[in-house]
Amino acid sequence: MRRQVLAARAVFPEAIARLREHFDVETNDSDEVWPQPELIRRLQGKAGVFVTGTEKIDEPLLAACPDLRAVCSMAVGYNNIDVPACTSHGVLVSNAPDVLTETTADFGFALMMATARRIAESEHFLRRGEWTKWSVDMFAGSDVHGATLGVLGMGRIGQAIARRGALGFGMKVLYHNRSRLDAAVEAQLGARWVDKATLLRDCDHLVIVVPYSAASHHLVGTAELALMKPTATLTNIARGGVVDDAALAAALRTRRIAAAGLDVFEGEPQVHPALLTVPNVVLTPHIASASIPTRRAMADLAVDNLIAALGAGPSAGKPPTALNPALLGHA
Ligand code: DGY
Repeated sequence: MRRQVLAARAVFPEAIARLREHFDVETNDSDEVWPQPELIRRLQGKAGVFVTGTEKIDEPLLAACPDLRAVCSMAVGYNNIDVPACTSHGVLVSNAPDVLTETTADFGFALMMATARRIAESEHFLRRGEWTKWSVDMFAGSDVHGATLGVLGMGRIGQAIARRGALGFGMKVLYHNRSRLDAAVEAQLGARWVDKATLLRDCDHLVIVVPYSAASHHLVGTAELALMKPTATLTNIARGGVVDDAALAAALRTRRIAAAGLDVFEGEPQVHPALLTVPNVVLTPHIASASIPTRRAMADLAVDNLIAALGAGPSAGKPPTALNPALLGHA
């Protein structure tokens, strides 16, 4: 008998077709974010689930879905999935690293540039019909080329942003990360490790790329913002919750820092109301990895993982990017 899987969000038809070569697939054509009881109901009898960053896979769900053997996400971030709980329930988990690195770094850099050069703010001004004359200081922002880039979180995406800054824009690159990169990688990227306070104090443009966890909750709040230059910008493409959004909105309103670019928010898709009323912030709806080729590659990688995790396809039993590979062979 064919195993049953659930695609918990709408995804490219080609990805569903690949799953259908091996499994009976229930889809979510209306692309609703199902409330937890609905997700649990639809997971009954399912051996696997294709998820994104929006589905919460936690202990109560796992306890209520005893047939589940694989949870495969098309996101690289997996703070929505309790991996240790999955492991203890014998559920294999995979995410989608690497395939989105360059696209996400492009976006992080674009958001940082839009923030520094006040692109959204000036566009809104123009659309409101307020542009009546050119003037010397109209929307004058700060330079990106030659400035000091501060990267908080130096994983794959952080490194790709550092490379853009150093090689493309002649930036001095400082970074802070729990573990230091090898000296050879630092030299290649032209990046120097500093402690967090020095990073905040010395950078002109801070880009945040750390994964969300209890340890990174409100990693940047009032105290950290107080260390930054009044001319500095902050860009967050990591996860909501890494930055204290209320503290950031206050810092933007009082011009404690110059501007911010945010792609992720605490409690998204809700956005802190104070952020919606300050002009010096560029807001985008969690789209850093959203190029068509990259979203296809992310979906394909999740499908590869799901097929392999459930013992089908050419890589049966060897999902390429498992997060708890010790479980392999048990699916
Ligand atoms: C990721 O892959 O983690 C992106 O933030 C999309 O969720």
